[in-house]
Amino acid sequence: MINILPEIISNIRMGNYRYIGSGSARNVFDLENGYVVKIAKNQAGIAQNRTEYQISFYDNSDLFARVIQVSDDFIFLIMEKAKKINNFSYICRYFNIRNNRELANLSKLQNIQKKYNLLWSDLFRSSSWGILDGKPVIIDYGYTKAVSERYYFAF
Ligand SMILES: Nc1ncnc2c1ncn2[C@@H]1O[C@H](COP(=O)(O)OP(=O)(O)O)[C@@H](O)[C@H]1O
Ligand SMILES: [Mg+2]
Repeated sequence: MINILPEIISNIRMGNYRYIGSGSARNVFDLENGYVVKIAKNQAGIAQNRTEYQISFYDNSDLFARVIQVSDDFIFLIMEKAKKINNFSYICRYFNIRNNRELANLSKLQNIQKKYNLLWSDLFRSSSWGILDGKPVIIDYGYTKAVSERYYFAF
């Protein structure tokens, strides 16, 4: 695969991309070609980029927006861009469920939660999801139990 990161990094420095949003650990910009770039702000962001890269690499469910490239230091990660979900009812309708408890009963969701040690509290948040090709996908999946213990609750 050709390395498109140097050009993307220089475009970020020049302010050429639209800012989409951020969480506690990463800033996200729209590459305007169907992808976003997530830029780690701190060690926790680097850990989350690394985790998303690994999960995307190993996973064969259709539940995650795919990572297509990361920088060697995991500061930059490129992921498929999903449409925003404003409301959990989209997810409910798609999976034919009524609430979080029923979401947690879906074997599909149970499998990935267990396999990757994801936090249910994140899976229950509509901001962790987006829409790709008309299907809900998880867009924020780097915050595993291991990452949360290491970077957020380490005293
Ligand atoms: N794949 C994506 N497609 C579209 N928007 C995204 C994507 N990933 C993240 N975003 C947007 O960027 C914001 C921050 O990204 P997120 O992964 O939640 O960062 P953090 O790990 O810091 O919480 C999200 O709330 C969402 O609005
Ligand atoms: Mg987030």
